[in-house]
Amino acid sequence: ETGYITLDDGYGNTGSCKSAITYIDGDAGILRYRGIPIEDIAGRSSFVEAAWLVIFGKLPTVQDRNRFSDLLTENSMMNENMRKHFDGFPTAAPPMAILSAMINTLSAHEPAVWSAHDDESIERAAAVLLSKARTIAAAAYKSSIGEPIVYPRYDVKYVENFLHMMFSVPYREYKPSKTAVKALNLFLLLHADHEQNCSTSTVRMVASSQANMFASCSAGVCALWGPLHGGANVAVIEMLERIRESGMDVKEYVRKVKNREDGVKLMGFGHRVYRNFDPRSKILRAAAEDLLEEMHVTDPLLDLGRELADAALSDDYFIERKLYPNVDFYSGIILRAIGLPVDMFTVMFAIGRMPGWIANWKEIHDDPKGRIYRPRQVYIGPTDVQWKPRSER
Ligand code: SDX
Repeated sequence: ETGYITLDDGYGNTGSCKSAITYIDGDAGILRYRGIPIEDIAGRSSFVEAAWLVIFGKLPTVQDRNRFSDLLTENSMMNENMRKHFDGFPTAAPPMAILSAMINTLSAHEPAVWSAHDDESIERAAAVLLSKARTIAAAAYKSSIGEPIVYPRYDVKYVENFLHMMFSVPYREYKPSKTAVKALNLFLLLHADHEQNCSTSTVRMVASSQANMFASCSAGVCALWGPLHGGANVAVIEMLERIRESGMDVKEYVRKVKNREDGVKLMGFGHRVYRNFDPRSKILRAAAEDLLEEMHVTDPLLDLGRELADAALSDDYFIERKLYPNVDFYSGIILRAIGLPVDMFTVMFAIGRMPGWIANWKEIHDDPKGRIYRPRQVYIGPTDVQWKPRSER
């Protein structure tokens, strides 16, 4: 009745799974990766460092960091046979459809996934997936705008290489600003893991059948796509643009939400676990303001977003239901400022969440007593129905 899967392990122990990766206190608004508060990681670690922490359970040493960075670089190029798949996608193909399909296809082209059984081989497979997810995402964007797919560079780091593959064109190298690279590192890091959300639970479900890392994470991409989950960062921008184009006062929009007119929700607000501010939204709001200031740009949607949040946070409807801005409310502003198109926003969430999905796959894989997830149900259908021949139906 609480709307979440009770993972019955067959011994009558119901309740959700046990995990040592991410801790959330929804009432206090606390989020920790492997015991470290998100506020201490954000702005100090890069996305790649946070990814290694989430997957392997501790901050990487210099040796770990250099080895993993080399693995990411070595595996950034997409197999030429994989590139051929892009010739078949229609221009309007949703990037999330391409990402989920191509991540699953990786298991056909990348044997590393079949030998992922100990930390060393899992690290290699994780590097293949993390690195190629970025290359696939950029290739999906290039295909959608009819430009040639750009090969990765071997002399720049993860985020810079992604922006290079997104925005470089033949004979004109794109050099992202340090500000944009810093903001995107922070965005990805803040999405790295988040306990048993819809997509991560999906990854664990698939992993529990002993499916490979790539297949499990591909399922995670599909679950994340929904507008109630990772698709919300797109829905927030669409909501703000609708309000701006209509000229509607934010208080009028809040009234429509409260009255549930046309089924509108305040996208980017509310959370199943947080009954307080999502700590990530606080960090993202500050980062969005800093980014726009450093880039000397203004975004009317940020001003509108702040106004809308302030209106909701002072309204009893939201206060009584403990609805606060979540990770998606401000994240789209940052992605817009960096120049990413809206249909790539959820793809960015997926790239950010990849370490958490890999870590959850690994936690299942490493459990010697691991059993397949097999949730039970409350049957509410008809009983004892007689079969009838077609002439009598
Ligand atoms: C993510 O789980 C995770 O950790 C997810 C995530 C992660 O990092 O993986 O944090 C990422 O998915 C964040 C959430 C992004 N989605 C949105 O922003 C979409 C808008 N939010 C809502 O759809 C909703 O708040 C959910 C989906 C996030 C949570 O849904 P719940 O827990 O099922 O909440 P609910 O629908 O039971 O809401 C309780 C009440 C209801 O009112 P009553 O029926 O009690 O009168 O609050 C209302 C809801 O109608 N409500 C909202 C609302 N969210 C809840 N009313 C207006 N606008 C909203 N956004």
